Amino acid sequence: MPLATRRFAVEEARGNAAAPTGISTSLGQFDQAIVERLIQNGVCVTSLDALAFPDTGGMFEDAMSVAGALIERGRFAPTTGKHTLTATADDLLARMRVFRWALNDRLLDIVEAYLGAPAAYDGALVYLSRGDGREGGVRKWHRDREDDRMLKVAIYLNDVDEDGGPFQVLTPELQKLVDGRASWKYASMRDEQMSITIRDGDWATGVRTLTGARGTVFLVDTARCHHRGKPPTKRDRLAVFHSFFRRVPSHPFCCERSTLSREQMASFADSLPRRGRDCVLWREKLPWRMRLVPRNRMTI
Ligand SMILES: [Fe+2]
Repeated sequence: MPLATRRFAVEEARGNAAAPTGISTSLGQFDQAIVERLIQNGVCVTSLDALAFPDTGGMFEDAMSVAGALIERGRFAPTTGKHTLTATADDLLARMRVFRWALNDRLLDIVEAYLGAPAAYDGALVYLSRGDGREGGVRKWHRDREDDRMLKVAIYLNDVDEDGGPFQVLTPELQKLVDGRASWKYASMRDEQMSITIRDGDWATGVRTLTGARGTVFLVDTARCHHRGKPPTKRDRLAVFHSFFRRVPSHPFCCERSTLSREQMASFADSLPRRGRDCVLWREKLPWRMRLVPRNRMTI
């Protein structure tokens, strides 16, 4: 069924949440509801159809093409036992509508309203997460460290059910319990470590599991909320994760996770209108000392 004719359920974005302070009045009602949900819960689930951003069809075509390359690679190339395959720069450079889509004015307005500051765009990562049930890397509970407040904008490229590696995130209520339990903030934990001393009832109601059809989109503050990709057991999961934070993030060393080089990102920026270019070239706004920070080489 063509994407444009599919209607996905919009879980939250059309809600009637009370308007918090600090939200730009230039946002449309739908987009403002997304920001309100993010402020309240740290996460908002919607869909490509509901968002109806410009060139969604072209973006999705490119994203599915990248996914196809990952599937082929997983089938025929040696993968050294990795539980997750990540699209390479070459995969993406031939299909840059994936990146370009994320720099549309409406999404940037949403992101900047939530961040309360001009956005930096760190590119997109496209993953194939194998249905092997292993718990490791981003499949363990963790917080992202790029900034104190940030947004990932994720798109499922296949239908994702409980056994297919759904994204999981803590509610603010459970996050508070977890934060009150230990002094550390960024520890990565297995499921049994994460739930220790948490009452079963609090755990049952405090973990949100984001199952959804292909084309489901969720925006989530991955610095504020512990989260993980639940280890898929029966099916592989394919997804895109766009990353945004402030132009002077708290931890620049933890940024630049794109598989594109700085030069490739700069070349892409040259093809963009001013606003998008400023988002991609965020490092240029850093104080000079922070610009000396080397490129992050951490991978899954
Ligand atoms: Fe993460």
